[in-house]
Amino acid sequence: MSRDDSARQTVRRTAASFLNLFGHNDGRRWDRSYSEGHWTFLDSVQQRPRHYVIAGMLRARGSHAASVLDVGCGTGALVPHLPGNVSRYVGIDISSEAIRICRKQYAPSAGRTFEASGFDDYKCRDGFEAIVFNEMLYYYPTRRIPGVISRACNLLKDGAGAIIVSVHDRSLKRRPVWREIRTCMSPAESMGAVDPETGNSWRVELYDVHDVACGG
Ligand SMILES: C[S@@+](CC[C@H](N)C(=O)[O-])C[C@H]1O[C@@H](n2cnc3c(N)ncnc32)[C@H](O)[C@@H]1O
Repeated sequence: MSRDDSARQTVRRTAASFLNLFGHNDGRRWDRSYSEGHWTFLDSVQQRPRHYVIAGMLRARGSHAASVLDVGCGTGALVPHLPGNVSRYVGIDISSEAIRICRKQYAPSAGRTFEASGFDDYKCRDGFEAIVFNEMLYYYPTRRIPGVISRACNLLKDGAGAIIVSVHDRSLKRRPVWREIRTCMSPAESMGAVDPETGNSWRVELYDVHDVACGG
């Protein structure tokens, strides 16, 4: 791809992302963006630091992180880094195009499924031990975040488990997002992840939820 093409792609991605962040978060807009290749960078090496931190947090929980729901899984960038203790992984995304790419890249199997669904509509029979919001929570209006957290708590197995959130340090919504999360829970772990080449950095936090302690 030429430099001009790459610059044009960045502009189009930023415009679409801005509308999804601050206007109406639209699945079809995400579909277009994915099919035009705007988000291929999510699978790049430079994005891996946050996946490594999330994978490490999951690994440290051992058998208590055997089942994981990845909300807004995108093209499944977390999948190759999942530790061996995760035996059931479900990736959901509001974009059916993202899910199509996931299924092409990572064959679904008994322990790994991908589903095109917005988080608000997602239903499951068996709860999860860990729920991941990797670079996605800020696509909700910030006032809705306590309700989203509450919904995540209700999807945890027996009302207990881990919620893991990553947020880009340069996101315009990072402060209100962390503030809203803090209204319902405090982190058990809080770590930085940095890519020294691009200067991109993220905060990744893990919240230990016991007996659906969070409201919303
Ligand atoms: C910046 S991408 C991050 C993708 C992936 N988590 C990663 O880290 O590579 C945000 C993703 O969240 C998805 N998304 C946005 N709002 C959503 C919602 N309400 N429910 C499910 N997925 C959503 C988008 O379609 C997009 O794939």
